[in-house]
Amino acid sequence: MNINILAIESSCDETSAAVIRDGEVLSNFIANQKVHEQYGGVVPELASRAHQQNIIPVVEAALKKSGVSKEELKAIAFTQSPGLIGSLLVGCCFAKSLALGLDLPLIAVHHMQAHVLANFIGDPKPSFPFLCLTVSGGHTQIVLVEDYLKMKVMGQTLDDAAGEAFDKTAKILGLPYPGGPLIDKYAKEGNPQRFSFPEPQIPGLNFSFSGLKTAILYFVQEQTKKDPDFIQNNRADICASVQHRIITILMNKLVKAAKETGIKEVCIAGGVSANSGLRQAMKAYSEKYGWNHYIPEFQYCTDNAGMISITAYYKYLAGEFADLTVSPSARSSMDRN
Ligand code: KG4
Ligand code: ZN
Repeated sequence: MNINILAIESSCDETSAAVIRDGEVLSNFIANQKVHEQYGGVVPELASRAHQQNIIPVVEAALKKSGVSKEELKAIAFTQSPGLIGSLLVGCCFAKSLALGLDLPLIAVHHMQAHVLANFIGDPKPSFPFLCLTVSGGHTQIVLVEDYLKMKVMGQTLDDAAGEAFDKTAKILGLPYPGGPLIDKYAKEGNPQRFSFPEPQIPGLNFSFSGLKTAILYFVQEQTKKDPDFIQNNRADICASVQHRIITILMNKLVKAAKETGIKEVCIAGGVSANSGLRQAMKAYSEKYGWNHYIPEFQYCTDNAGMISITAYYKYLAGEFADLTVSPSARSSMDRN
């Protein structure tokens, strides 16, 4: 068939481009923006500028690696929402210009839908219906997936996202942004039972992480009063204990959703699905509850254009194209897609 699609992701602080052919990702190029590290979080204006600098080389690298020429492309896809508006604008305007210049159709992709569909890159693939726990820096959702483009959010965070809980804990511990991968690294050497943090009692399938963040902050402040080197001397155990609590909060809700729906096909997605503890927990819970579980490859967990490309492929097959008046949106519900 040779449906070649170029996809661009620029919703936050990764500039990424990918090329997909008939559902198989041929290249997935990601440029991380180091400029935010010193600020302890993403600075939106700096992110937009870095996207502008990165986008041409990133797109060229993705095309080159795929071996697909611009003339062989069948569509141009980009992340339309949600995300930082300035960052989204860069990808959107670039994609529109390219589509106009090459006379190709344009495909607008929802970032959270794309995280879920990252589970369709490679094998094995989940079968419908399935549940997806999508855990990123901006979102925490339990999604009921009925078809490639038919998804319903069953529960979500009322305040901080799971990734934010990792990042804010890292900040409390004096670790740089993004803190999730570092907490994961230190947690491997620590004792998850050493310190006990509270599990919030939120009804239904919603989550809350802001209380946990406050509990960690007060705990660390108290201990540091007694021992100024508390963090330094106990870093691995603190990281392991916090990570353990975040994972149990997530997994307990996933178990609840699986029981309520009777669904045993279960996926995870989003930046936090790169966490080694969460990946292990998925395996352990799957054995316990008889689930078939699916986890995207590392490069498709954190923000990447590969996941935008696979979503664009299914949208292409469904004939869902955008016109040149399309504009990005900082927030939008996935259910309406
Ligand atoms: O999906 P993503 O790349 O961006 C958003 O859409 O938000 O997720 C980024 C989040 C950050 O909060 C980062 O700390 C977290 O994913 N993260 C991790 C790990 N790798 C990335 N959290 C825990 N463990 C990891 N290994
Ligand atoms: Zn994301």
